[in-house]
Amino acid sequence: MAELRIAIEAAAPSDYRTPLLVLQHFQRDQQPGGLAADVDRRLGGAISRVLERGDFQGKKDETLLLYPADGQIAAERVLVVGVGKREEYTSEQLRRAVGVAVRQAEKLRVRELAFSMAHVDRLSEHMGAYHAGLATVEAATLAAWDYRELKTGADATERVDVEAVTLLARDTEERAEFGRAAAYGAVAARAENLARELQTLPGNIATPTHLAATAERIAAEHGLRVTVLDRAGIERAGMKALLAVAQGSQEEPRFIILEYNGGADGDPPLVLIGKGITFDTGGISIKPAERMEEMKYDMSGAAAVLAALKAIAELRLPANVVGLVPSTENMPSGTAVKPGDVIGSLLGKTIEVVNTDAEGRLVLADALAYARRYNPRAMVDAATLTGACVIALGHHAIGLMGNDGDLIDEVRKAGQRVGERCWPLPLWDEYRPQIDSAVADIKNTGGRPAGTITAGWFLKEFAGDIPWAHLDIAGTAWREDVPPYLRKGATGVPTRLFIEWVRSRVE
Ligand code: BES
Ligand code: MN
Ligand code: ZN
Repeated sequence: MAELRIAIEAAAPSDYRTPLLVLQHFQRDQQPGGLAADVDRRLGGAISRVLERGDFQGKKDETLLLYPADGQIAAERVLVVGVGKREEYTSEQLRRAVGVAVRQAEKLRVRELAFSMAHVDRLSEHMGAYHAGLATVEAATLAAWDYRELKTGADATERVDVEAVTLLARDTEERAEFGRAAAYGAVAARAENLARELQTLPGNIATPTHLAATAERIAAEHGLRVTVLDRAGIERAGMKALLAVAQGSQEEPRFIILEYNGGADGDPPLVLIGKGITFDTGGISIKPAERMEEMKYDMSGAAAVLAALKAIAELRLPANVVGLVPSTENMPSGTAVKPGDVIGSLLGKTIEVVNTDAEGRLVLADALAYARRYNPRAMVDAATLTGACVIALGHHAIGLMGNDGDLIDEVRKAGQRVGERCWPLPLWDEYRPQIDSAVADIKNTGGRPAGTITAGWFLKEFAGDIPWAHLDIAGTAWREDVPPYLRKGATGVPTRLFIEWVRSRVE
């Protein structure tokens, strides 16, 4: 589908011609405030009448749809979206309201909508114009996205997509702020949509080769350097752990390196690493059939890394950033790695593969070891790594671990700002013995207790002294129950977190 068009206009909401004008309303406000008061007045007090009756109160995500009489205002419809109590208003609530409006537009088969941003001044203690504009543009871009390319019937053609949104600014100064926010927000959210598309594509389409081709396209379009290692190249490089996972599959593995040089020459880079298992059957330690089809999204970390590199380059952020993606299928076959096998790794450590379904940490081990060659300032990996993370945190928090408290804090705050929240888990020494091996240097599973932490510990052994943070996105990359600005399925997490973290390091 085509990208959402975004316009910024300095215009009064009452006078702006649009099929759907969107206002936000705080719970407990007796009357629409600011410029919304003018809309209400021109509607003959229609909004305040409903508020008086209590039929609409402005509770979070609540809606009120009104149809102006001829000539009252320029808009054909007015949608008032509740955003809860003023003192609880956050950028996440704003994103939700924008999502609610886009879903309403879809239902009404309306292709364009305009957001009155008139509430912004009443909130300046919470959120300035820039951040309000940013959240609006991001949420609208994410909300409008859909993937129907693999459908051929009525489903594909009958749905109406939202094609354009307008942010209404009060004056030219505010218009400029919204413009700056839109320039950043649209790039970040479109990148996240690319990640969602890659996640959604099935394993027979989004193969390691496809991910590599995507990286090559991003590199060509945005001037990055790309290097792709095939099976022979991975072998020559000594990535024995990645190779061990790939040995069971007919599908060619790839190790993808994207390099963006926006910083000074020779300035050590930030490295982003994403797990790129394009289908995880579990291998010989095979998974149950039920919901195995979802394991096409085991490359969500990879999708976010590729998408973030694209956005970072488009935004010309003044940093050197490297994206690394170890990518393969995890399949059972006569050539597959077996439980009990001892394999090597790029770092030289030997690994006892107790469970072939703990493949993500194997491919990441080699990527982390590879990353150390850059002597990076910091590295952050994202991986749909453990089912245990879904048990621990459910679908609302990314599991966050690492070897550097300051970095963990930076990443957590970046996630908080963009609504991709992380929660820390402890990599205490006491957990380390769970992955001691009797035959090799380390084993790839630590049993049921604290499965997310022992996976983190495994990675830590390969990160060495480089400041490193690990994001377990098993519960957040793919969701059934999503905020209104997303759709059931691929979330693109943590694309915007990555971009925001890099931005925060350099601005
Ligand atoms: N890709 C899975 C983890 C996963 C599970 C992601 C559910 C998303 C939803 C990973 O490769 C895996 O299979 N992990 C095993 C590790 C275990 C064998 C130690 C798991 O979590 O069961
Ligand atoms: Mn697995
Ligand atoms: Zn996996």
